[in-house]
Amino acid sequence: MKLNALEKALMNNPVRAWIQRRYEAPLLEGLGGRIDGLRALEIGCGRGVGTAIILDQFGASEVDAFDLDEQMVRLAQRRLAAYPPSRLRLWVGDATAIKAEDASFDVVFDFGILHHVPAWQRAVAEIRRVLRPGGRFYFMEVTGQALTRRSYRHFFVHPITNRFSRADLVAELEKQDILVGERIVERFFGDFIYGVGRINAA
Ligand SMILES: C[S@@+](CC[C@H](N)C(=O)[O-])C[C@H]1O[C@@H](n2cnc3c(N)ncnc32)[C@H](O)[C@@H]1O
Repeated sequence: MKLNALEKALMNNPVRAWIQRRYEAPLLEGLGGRIDGLRALEIGCGRGVGTAIILDQFGASEVDAFDLDEQMVRLAQRRLAAYPPSRLRLWVGDATAIKAEDASFDVVFDFGILHHVPAWQRAVAEIRRVLRPGGRFYFMEVTGQALTRRSYRHFFVHPITNRFSRADLVAELEKQDILVGERIVERFFGDFIYGVGRINAA
């Protein structure tokens, strides 16, 4: 589901970029480590701040990134124009039907998109499908508890049914063999969760 105008304004501003670079990326790196030389996919890349973080802070050798919203992809293309096509590919796409081969990525990143996807379990199955054995899934997510707060309901637009708690998300990931274990933390009274899942090596 695309963002409404207010959420887009909140996402596409320097404060959000600062939080992503200085708070979220170090937290996720602490949970899952760097990914030097690996091939990564970012789902729901928005305007591409996370994509640059994956390349520059996490050390990925190459990144594919997509978003449902063509306007966001255009912003990302502008922001990331300096990266060569050998390191970066951007496209319009849907996390519930990822345009990529099975087992084609070492790492998948999700900076806050699954809570926008009505059939989020389908997206988890797609993430599992495109990850290689031993692959990792880094995620920052917003729980159903947050989405039911009056502020969220008043200002933003999200799917209302079939939302997830921390336990629901971990259970679905582990059902799909993406094992989280202790690599997960809650922030802001359980409204936000940060974690890293890992598939067993073959
Ligand atoms: C809250 S924003 C986060 C954007 C970016 N990851 C960030 O952290 O700034 C969620 C993004 O997910 C995208 N999105 C929503 N549903 C999607 C889907 N099914 N497939 C791909 N992207 C989706 C939206 O267009 C939006 O850019």
